Amino acid sequence: MATCLFTTPCLSLFQWTSPQSLVAVFKCFAAAQCLLSHDSMLDNKGINTFDFIIVGAGSAGCVLANRLSENEDWNVLLLEAGGDPPITSDIPGLQTLLYKSEYDWQYKTVNDGVTSQAIDNGQVTWTKGKLLGGSSSINALVYVTGNDHDYQRWYDAGNKEWSVDEVRRCFKKAESLQNQDMLRDPTISTRYGHNGPQTVNRFNNTYRWYTDKIIKSWSELGFKNTKDLNVENYMGAGILTATASNGVRRSTYKTYLKQAEKRSNLKIIKNALVTKVLIDANFIAYGVEVKEYGLKKTYLATREVILSAGSISSPQILMLSGVGPQEHLETHNVECFVNSPMVGQNLQDHALMPVTIYGDKPGSVTLGEFLKHITDYLLYRKGFLAQSSVVTDAGLFFSTLENASYPNSQSHVTVVNKNFPLVNLNLKGTFGYNDAVLESITDLNQKKNECAGVQ
Ligand SMILES: Cc1cc2nc3c(=O)[nH]c(=O)nc-3n(C[C@H](O)[C@H](O)[C@H](O)COP(=O)(O)OP(=O)(O)OC[C@H]3O[C@@H](n4cnc5c(N)ncnc54)[C@H](O)[C@@H]3O)c2cc1C
Ligand SMILES: *[C@@H]1O[C@H](CO)[C@@H](O)[C@H](O)[C@H]1NC(C)=O
Ligand SMILES: *[C@@H]1O[C@H](CO)[C@@H](O)[C@H](O)[C@H]1NC(C)=O
Repeated sequence: MATCLFTTPCLSLFQWTSPQSLVAVFKCFAAAQCLLSHDSMLDNKGINTFDFIIVGAGSAGCVLANRLSENEDWNVLLLEAGGDPPITSDIPGLQTLLYKSEYDWQYKTVNDGVTSQAIDNGQVTWTKGKLLGGSSSINALVYVTGNDHDYQRWYDAGNKEWSVDEVRRCFKKAESLQNQDMLRDPTISTRYGHNGPQTVNRFNNTYRWYTDKIIKSWSELGFKNTKDLNVENYMGAGILTATASNGVRRSTYKTYLKQAEKRSNLKIIKNALVTKVLIDANFIAYGVEVKEYGLKKTYLATREVILSAGSISSPQILMLSGVGPQEHLETHNVECFVNSPMVGQNLQDHALMPVTIYGDKPGSVTLGEFLKHITDYLLYRKGFLAQSSVVTDAGLFFSTLENASYPNSQSHVTVVNKNFPLVNLNLKGTFGYNDAVLESITDLNQKKNECAGVQ
């Protein structure tokens, strides 16, 4: 194994002072194929009429493709605009390299002249995965199953098949809890599922003493410390669980799609951009139009067309198909087929407010330590590449309202070592700060550790 590692050319290119060469080092992970296995997908099974067509192979689409193709009588087509996840998707510590890359749709908000002015052009970067696994292949890996109140609201809004109990049953069916400490505690282990495809674990945090301190300090401020946030219905502070195990990301591509991809009744087409849902005169969706490598193709569905293209693309595809607010469609010269004013409305996202705090610990990382983290990862899947680079696993869920039983805010913490060579890359990737803001932060980072508490 060691021989294989040191024959890769990247280590000799290494120069401590330049972030670019560090990026080059990380990209050389691809060269270390002998240590990191990565399979590609099977493609093309030759038919174009299916029982189900699923648009988008993200968090939802990969699960749907697996579950629907369990029924051998159904032929299922899964269409995905992106391709295979790169090796960097596997490595939690490298997630920011995926932002603003070909694996990201790279959406941006419009500058309103008021908010987000510390960000380049006042435009918030809306990262969104464009690859198998969708955003689950690039996200911050935090596994949160929500508060009962969230699902009670679904039920109260008339979705009688989605009661709190039913949602909890589904979560458990999906989960496979891996963490030995959590498994040993019956109050925690009974709260999770054990035989599902979605592995759930905690990170082997390099700075556990540090995150423990943060959690304790929340307690001093009056927020309850929990031994598991899921058990406490996500009210309080504690160590977060992750959609990762043994230092490797577990996207829905890995957990659901890979085990189904060889089924003869499931066809997966990558690099296929769905541009329209075909709808007949009786308002029944009967197929989709797709652009594959510049060629227009049509696929037909005898049962259902399912849009699981994410919160931005699903309504976009509906609108491109003539389903949406009439006036808006007409301004884009799309013939309105069904005037449905709410399509594309009511988008909600969590606003993120970074608060940077400076401190003396954990100190700077030397070149030797940095290289050790890299080799530790390649050989043992540990070190800081084995954990998220965006947030530590200290999490706080709380409400700004008095005596509330469910949270309306959450707080995460990012730790940036003193004089950390990737500080620029990480902060730019995560928050998109403009150069002036970045400069002030990197300047201070040469002298101090940073701890960005994010709400
Ligand atoms: C940077 C980032 C960090 C995040 N961190 C966390 C976290 O730590 N914890 C957490 O719980 N959530 C997190 N999230 C949110 C979470 O990842 C998403 O809510 C979830 O993945 C959405 O699932 P989805 O199936 O709706 O869409 P996605 O997973 O985004 O899947 C949509 C898929 O559809 C494809 N697609 C889109 N348009 C088309 C088209 N026209 N034709 C064909 N295919 C198309 C896309 O390429 C994509 O693969 C994060 C998200 C981002 C972007
Ligand atoms: C942490 O490391 C131990 C020992 O190497 C390993 O058994 C365990 O699975 C790891 N846990 C996670 C969450 O990766
Ligand atoms: C919150 O709870 C405390 C203790 O029960 C009570 O005294 C107080 O009035 C409550 N506040 C609100 C806003 O309900």
